[in-house]
Formats: sequence, C-alpha cells, structure tokens
Amino acid sequence: MKCTRKTLACVMAAIMLLLSGCGAANTDNTSESAKETAVETTAKSSTQRHKVIIDTDTGSDDAGALVLAATSEQLDILGVTVLFGNVPLKNAADNALMTLEVCGSDAPVYIGAEKPLKKEREEMISVHGKDGMGDQDLIHPKRGAEDGDAVDFILDTIKSDPGEVEIIAFGPLTNIALALKKDPDTMKLCKRLWVMGTTGFGVGNATPVAEFNVYSDAEAYDTVLRAELPMTVLGLDMVEIEETKITEDDLSKMAQGNKNGVFMSKAFAKLFEFYRKSGNNMTLPDPMAVACMIWPDMVLETKSCYGLTCVGDDAAYGQVILYQNGSVYEAMPEISSYNLDVVTKIDAKLFKDRFMSVMTD
Ligand code: BDR
Ligand code: CA
Repeated sequence: MKCTRKTLACVMAAIMLLLSGCGAANTDNTSESAKETAVETTAKSSTQRHKVIIDTDTGSDDAGALVLAATSEQLDILGVTVLFGNVPLKNAADNALMTLEVCGSDAPVYIGAEKPLKKEREEMISVHGKDGMGDQDLIHPKRGAEDGDAVDFILDTIKSDPGEVEIIAFGPLTNIALALKKDPDTMKLCKRLWVMGTTGFGVGNATPVAEFNVYSDAEAYDTVLRAELPMTVLGLDMVEIEETKITEDDLSKMAQGNKNGVFMSKAFAKLFEFYRKSGNNMTLPDPMAVACMIWPDMVLETKSCYGLTCVGDDAAYGQVILYQNGSVYEAMPEISSYNLDVVTKIDAKLFKDRFMSVMTD
C-alpha cells in the first residue's frame, strides 16, 4: 500500500484521540505496555529465562548479536533461523553456525527464506565483506543446519509453548511474514517480537528514508506490522548514538580479549574498514537489539507508535512512517491500534561497557 493522505480519516482519528484523552501533542508517551514489559523483563532476569528464537541474516554485526545472546544467562535459545539479507542464505547459515560454535552453543539452525516475498533479491554493497564475516577465512563450521524448514520450526516452537516464546529478528522480516501467512493464529501466541529495523526517528542507510532490513523486504515488514503482534523495535537513530560505536581502540581491545573478542575483531574487519573510510566509528545495530532484551535497564524510554510501511514502487520504498501515540497529525491514516513500541532513549555507555566486557572479560 502507498502512503496516501486520508483527510477524512485523519479528522475522525484526531477526534477519537481527543475523546479518549490521548490527544496531548509532544508528550513523553512511553507506552504503558512497554513499561510493563520492561518491569516484567527485569523481574524475569532473576527468575525465568526468555525462551527465544533468533532470526538472522548473519553478517558480522549479526554475529556480534549472536555472541551476546549465546553468552547471556537471560536467554534460552530454542533455535536460530536464517535468511538472505546481508549475505546470501548459504553464507548466513554458515556464519551463524560458526559463531554459535565459537560461543560453545549447540542451538539448532534452520534454513529460511532465500529471497524477499515479492521483489527480486537485490545485490547491495556488501559492507560485511563477501562472506559477511570480514573475508578472514574464519568460517569452517563443524556442524550443518537442521533438515527442517525455518518457518515450520518457528510455528511448531510457538505452538508447543503458547504465550512463552519470543523472537529476536535482526534481518529482513521475511521468515516471520511467511510464518504469519502460513498460520496467523499460531503467531498470535508469540509473546513478543524484538526487531532491529526502521530508521526510528532518524535517517536511513539503504536510502535516505529506508533502513537496510526493511528495504530488503518492505512487504514482509508491512505484513508483520499489520499483524499487530506485541513488538519492540530498535531503529537506526539509537544505533547512531556515538557513544555506542566501536573505535579503533575498542577493536584492538577485542583483538586482545577473550575468544569472542578475538573472533569478532576479525569478523568486523571489513565493516570497520567501511566506516573508517568515511571517518566514522563502527555501529552495532544487531547487538544493540539483543541488548534491549537482555539488559532492560539499558532501555530508558520507548514510545508507542503506529508504523506504516511504504511498499509502493517509488523512492519511499522501505520507509516506515511512525505516528506517535499521543500526537495529533493533520493527515492521519485510520489506526486500528498502535502496533509497535519504538525505543527512543538508551543508556549508551551501559551498552558499550557491557558489550566490551562480553568481548574481553
Ligand atoms: C541492519 O543492516 C545490516 O547491515 C545489519 O546487520 C543490521 O541488521 C542495519 O541497518
Ligand atoms: Ca542483520
């Protein structure tokens, strides 16, 4: 669907918002549901582990995210599902398997989508190197992927533990969208989706308005947002906070750190070089998405939003327009519910300190 103005709907929506007492513009509207999630998550940290499926297009920062997940006591990784994205599917699977092996995790890996729902897979600049892991000849996994399909694994796992399984996705959302298309009722039993995607309230990296994961399959994002599952999203605006980024000094500390650090310092070689060429430090999108789940004290604010994905055949493809709950817009689409919680403030230093300690302690 294209992003069109629906003036009548806008007036109706604005009236409804005012009537329901949500009409104050520019308020700090950290959503109640997100606050509850944060409280629940904090309480859980001392008692029960999150049961998670990780969905990844494993390039180097996905690998960093897998290291955080696999070494976290907060998570019980039920399985890892892979798909195209940063690299072709085969590389994504091998990179995930190798990273899990380095961390001593035997979480099963399932093969998912090879291409987007509708468009052809587009070759974009490979910022992670040709193999997705810095082209350092690091990738020789001892085991292979499981026989089953990623979509079936996601559905079977959620079905067998209704309301308990969460998904962390840090690639295009194609596997999740396929699962929704196949069995929407089962997907309603997913406890929460944690997603790295969208620009947040900042600018894009695939195009000026679109973030890479959404741009890779905007139809999949659209499908997921329309399903209105409980969902927390980390966007590029948080990832661009300078204090979260990896400097040359950080990279050399990782190289002299523990086995995770040594492995990741090599895997980051190409990505780091890519950022250095433009005089920047290296961002960590996917590790930050995992951090939102395992370190809830890092997330200082979330905003309840209605996200509308642009899927038209034009320059806005992959943009996600975020209408904030509590703000009144003069032209607003019809909103059935606010369908995502967007992270809007984080403790950047806490993130970076903890990330570095996973790589060095
Ligand atoms: C996203 O794009 C990929 O390069 C990263 O792995 C991350 O998931 C950031 O836009
Ligand atoms: Ca990724």
